[in-house]
Amino acid sequence: MAEGVYPVPERLLQDGQEKPFIDSLEKYKAMWTESIKHPETFFAKLAKDLLSWSMPFETVQNGSFVDGNVGWFLEGELNAAYNCIDRHAFQHPDKVALIHEGDEPDNVRKFTYDQLLREVCRLANVLRSFDVRKGDTVIIYMPMIPEAVFAMLACARIGAIHSVVFAGFSAESLRDRIRDCGTRLVITADEGRRGGRSIATKFIVDEALQGIDTVERVLVCRRTGAEVNWVQNRDVWYHEEILKARPYCPPMSMNAEDPLFILYTSGSTGTPKGVMHSTAGYLLEAAATVKYVFDCHDEDIFACMADIGWITGHSYIVYGPLALGVTTVLFESTPTYPDPSRFWRIIDQHKITHFYTAPTALRALRRLGDEWVQKWDLSTLRVIGSVGEPINPETWEWYYQKVGQSRCAVVDTYWQTETGSIVISPLPGAVAMKPGSATVPFFGIEPVILDPHTGERLEGDSVSGVLAIAKPWPSMARTLYNNHQRYMDTYFNVYRGYYFTGDGASRDKDGYYWIGGRVDDVINVSGHRLSTAEIESALVAHEAASEAAVIGGHDDLTGQSIHAFCTLKPGVESVEGLEKELILHVRRAIGPFATPKRVYVVHDVPKTRSGKIMRRILRKIVDNEADQIGDTSTLANPHVIQDLIKQLKTHIVA
Ligand code: PRX
Repeated sequence: MAEGVYPVPERLLQDGQEKPFIDSLEKYKAMWTESIKHPETFFAKLAKDLLSWSMPFETVQNGSFVDGNVGWFLEGELNAAYNCIDRHAFQHPDKVALIHEGDEPDNVRKFTYDQLLREVCRLANVLRSFDVRKGDTVIIYMPMIPEAVFAMLACARIGAIHSVVFAGFSAESLRDRIRDCGTRLVITADEGRRGGRSIATKFIVDEALQGIDTVERVLVCRRTGAEVNWVQNRDVWYHEEILKARPYCPPMSMNAEDPLFILYTSGSTGTPKGVMHSTAGYLLEAAATVKYVFDCHDEDIFACMADIGWITGHSYIVYGPLALGVTTVLFESTPTYPDPSRFWRIIDQHKITHFYTAPTALRALRRLGDEWVQKWDLSTLRVIGSVGEPINPETWEWYYQKVGQSRCAVVDTYWQTETGSIVISPLPGAVAMKPGSATVPFFGIEPVILDPHTGERLEGDSVSGVLAIAKPWPSMARTLYNNHQRYMDTYFNVYRGYYFTGDGASRDKDGYYWIGGRVDDVINVSGHRLSTAEIESALVAHEAASEAAVIGGHDDLTGQSIHAFCTLKPGVESVEGLEKELILHVRRAIGPFATPKRVYVVHDVPKTRSGKIMRRILRKIVDNEADQIGDTSTLANPHVIQDLIKQLKTHIVA
């Protein structure tokens, strides 16, 4: 093996019982080639193998990127909740479907597939009693409790479209999302618990609903029992309604292309995009990637540490593992509560075989010392995954050696909210690993590297450019809610004939892909995707601010961090504490995870003669690379650069 290349772990190939589904590079290559040359036969077989249909499909794939009318398994009918619950409950009712690890250690709740069926059916009947119908949207704003999973599946059961909003979003951000999808029902909790602290979830919902007149009902789950404000004729208790409901609700037969959910994500303009996923294509690839990318077998215990408010939680806590009938873990707390051994303790306690988290968490835990990892039995682990941002080689090595104990496969999985499921990743039993590379495409994915300026496809090895995908795949997003034009413009009209990811990437001599990061105005902080425009519009909403420019600076811990440059309105003087106030203002407007690391109140920002702010230059200044700024002769105000460098230097000293 070449230096820096890690072969497939021996242990995976030796152990008879857990023989990988794909156990050689040749097998992977043969299957991938088949999936690209004959996608219809390949995916028809996969869809019949992995999903149960109430009506078979005939047309496997239709439509193209050019028209943006892609569809898969067209005449087929199925129900996602039936696929995730009923068929497993009938076969093995007592198998554990969901392990809930609460905020406090040892606060564990387990649900078998049979119990899951009853919980979801009851809630589905409650939703029906509120007259929620097929195609209606339901907002779920909940902590990481089992009822949040029941809520998603109950929507799927009756054909309602759920939209989970990450419970770290502010009232304002929640309101925007409620307004955009015009929902009549919000499902929430009295409070959340995280890291030993309470979060006033219901209070945030009450604030968000001010000025909204579409919402008729708020269904409130009791998590802590705290006293909450109550709006008569609107608010109802989950635990009371559930008692009235029958524990069986027939699943609604849905067309393969009926929407399963909307998930809002940040784009390069201020308004969030409601990414919409289909029922069959999405579910198929969520399941297929758990099976092949994680090499997950029937008796495995799958633990994805993401939040259900993000796509990773949708695909790898809920839909993927449950569609396969394995046991999934829902974790309510943080990696460092009550101490930095929490993840490793959970792996030991629940005998977890598959563990999936983000590089930021790993970087933070690595800094806190190996002793937290060493005292736990991690021998059940077989595959450990990373997602959300590039993983730097040092963190990869640490993960591989200390957590995987040099005998597990590390899967660096590249994908996006819009791709629905993993699109580039090693397969544990087949693909040698290179730290920092997401390696090779999943079945049906034909990645291409394009010249960013000409859009020309760069063939061969050792090329860099922007990453695009050449052909439709089943779990790709089908539209942006109520905004198909934006869908076309963002993904398909940038480089005609291709799906544009927004990421830069290169392909090495072995055909491995290395993801470089966003090339648009999207930044990635701790694996959270944020739009610079969204933060800028939050800043300029402050009474003192005139103009704002936000960039992602390099950050050893969080990958990137938010730096904002803000000019003030004429006549407004900068006062002590203003920068802090602006930081808090953004935090309140979007949510704690969007807190800027720094706001610099400045006199001016570099602009082109046409008035465009040169964020590229701001980025160089923040990253201490001012010597690489290059030609500034096209700027309208080149002198501001030196002023900013000086000002930032004093900031850092201060
Ligand atoms: O920039 C890429 C980065 O995360 C973006 C997608 O963010 P989001 O839709 O929030 O989904 C995150 C979880 C799938 C991508 O455009 N990204 C995701 N995974 C990786 C990554 N960057 C490098 N390596 C990865 N493995």
